Amino acid sequence: MRNLTEANLTDAVLARLSECDDPRLKQVMQSLIKHLHAFVREIEPTPQEWMAGIQFLTATGQKCDAVRQEYILLSDTLGVSMLMDAINNRKPAGATESSVLGPFYVEGAPEHDNGADLAPGEGPGVTVSGTVRGTDGKPLANAVLDVWQTAPNGLYHMQDQQAEEFHLCGKVHSAADGSYSLRTLKPVSYAVPIDGPVGSLLTKLGRHPYRPAHIHFIVSAPGYKPVVTQVYTEGDDYLESDAVFGVKNSLVVDYQRDGDEWKVSYDFVLEPAA
Ligand SMILES: [Fe+2]
Repeated sequence: MRNLTEANLTDAVLARLSECDDPRLKQVMQSLIKHLHAFVREIEPTPQEWMAGIQFLTATGQKCDAVRQEYILLSDTLGVSMLMDAINNRKPAGATESSVLGPFYVEGAPEHDNGADLAPGEGPGVTVSGTVRGTDGKPLANAVLDVWQTAPNGLYHMQDQQAEEFHLCGKVHSAADGSYSLRTLKPVSYAVPIDGPVGSLLTKLGRHPYRPAHIHFIVSAPGYKPVVTQVYTEGDDYLESDAVFGVKNSLVVDYQRDGDEWKVSYDFVLEPAA
């Protein structure tokens, strides 16, 4: 194929997929090429703008390491992660709604029995309690609540050189009757990392980088679909303008005073796996 033009170039690129024997990869690449070419036709970037885009994606990759995932942050702040979440978690009525995983989940947090204190010696703390059950109402014994959150300084453990590994993280197991309780610290609203290309982009777009206070959970039990979600704090300044679009009404909870500490209640409901 020679003498390709604006008019026939897209078809020529699509035709090169004819030998691909992976139908899903072929479908993905057909759509990607069509949308990417349509985007370039609509925007008509200058060479300088095209290079700025290349440099942005390069910098995004270079910012990533074992504990920093700038591409997930990009996906989150563009709303792609929550769109992915919506498409992949069409849950039945009554099941706990999902929210974005975010870039700060680390597999391998320590295991704890029900009633664990994730912040021994620190306070004021908050006791988070409730039940884990199925949409059928069945209490789920030995469900695992994999929890992670920021410290009061707004940093996750891997962002903070002073913090112990897995600080304010843990896998807490529910009791025989499906109840659970854990003690942690009251979460705070925090800024997503702004020292990289995604932060620079947010600034140029006139967007703030803040997320409303939340505790992350992955709740799982044998025979049920795990839910990846976050429990948000009622009254937070950023519930309406979360930088990653993750807030849902059913996930917002009221923190109550409990002497010098706090308490909050949340029940998790999982849908059967089958
Ligand atoms: Fe978070």
